[in-house]
Amino acid sequence: MTSVVIMAGGKGERFWPKSRINLPKQFLSLTDDGKSMIQHTVERVKSLVNIENIYVVTNEMYKNLVLKHVPDIPEENIIIEPAAKNTAPCIGLAAIHIAKKDINSKMIILPSDHLIKFNEIFIDTLKTALDVVEKGDNLATIGITPNYPETGYGYINFTKGESFKDSTNIYEVLRFVEKPNLEKAKEYLTSGQYLWNSGMFVWKASTILKNFKEYLPEIYEGLQKIGKSINTGKYEEVLKKEFLNLPSESIDYGIMEKAKNIYVIPGNFGWDDVGSWLSLERINKTNQDGNVITGNVISIKTKNTIIQGSDKLIATIGLEDIVVVDTDDVTLICHKNNTQEVKEIISNLRICN
Ligand code: GDD
Ligand code: MG
Repeated sequence: MTSVVIMAGGKGERFWPKSRINLPKQFLSLTDDGKSMIQHTVERVKSLVNIENIYVVTNEMYKNLVLKHVPDIPEENIIIEPAAKNTAPCIGLAAIHIAKKDINSKMIILPSDHLIKFNEIFIDTLKTALDVVEKGDNLATIGITPNYPETGYGYINFTKGESFKDSTNIYEVLRFVEKPNLEKAKEYLTSGQYLWNSGMFVWKASTILKNFKEYLPEIYEGLQKIGKSINTGKYEEVLKKEFLNLPSESIDYGIMEKAKNIYVIPGNFGWDDVGSWLSLERINKTNQDGNVITGNVISIKTKNTIIQGSDKLIATIGLEDIVVVDTDDVTLICHKNNTQEVKEIISNLRICN
């Protein structure tokens, strides 16, 4: 059995003011086709697994949004977290639910807020990763060739190694480094020995639970108690009590940086994690002046801007390299060089509701 687990509980703050606490990035439509990021994520894997084997893990706040965006996923496959505890508890919770059905089920873990251009290559890459975990207690991750020293990603130091030596695209992981500083990121980039971690993982439920037991025992204990309560009528109560007590931890720091038997499969499928408003230039068409525009906009002598409006008329004259995002109650106007700092507005003003 193969299950897909979509992590959809993140905040995606860099897309403020369109993303809010009650409408994070995964539920936004940032592409020309009008589909949300989570809808793209589900569609992408439909050729690989049945819809009954697709799970979404999210905060209780977003349950109705998930049901609205992906109505064909069975409601019981929407796994609810009583609080956001980052990706390790999220993945652990999914693992105990899946293990209850089949401890040897393979799990494909996917973020809900990335874009992929070439789906057939993506599916082939996942199939290779499924082969890797079929053959043993292995952890597989999908790596992306880096092209600049991003400090917001994990880096994977890889080597060809002895295992899977007959395969052309499976590498042993020597070291996993989550979010290095700029100096290290530059070093990794120029070495040619590192890939970016895409945040997509493949493993068996049994394997990841063993890793939780070894590297995150406190989370493992809590998960075990929750697991025992599944189908007992006490589930909601135990989940609330135990999950709220779990420490916040990402799977990258908590397990990937420490675990053994990690393999990486490079993914050349046009990956984009759509990290800020600037990404819209990569994923959408620009007009003849280099502007990416949605909504009711008149622009004169305006070049290389990103303007996101709706019905209200936005008129610009003489703008260059500026981002304008207009919503009912907030208008963001920011230089393209500062789109990563949108998060700071949120922490300063705390008005993201
Ligand atoms: N259900 C749930 N609960 N989902 C969560 C939670 C949570 O508490 N926290 C985050 N997520 C979801 C997000 O919605 C996103 O889809 C995914 O998990 C990854 O979380 P991010 O918060 O976006 O992680 P990141 O960008 O800092 O880093 C990860 O992704 C990078 C690539 O985009 C890491 O895996 C890095 O190593 C990687 O390079
Ligand atoms: Mg991310």
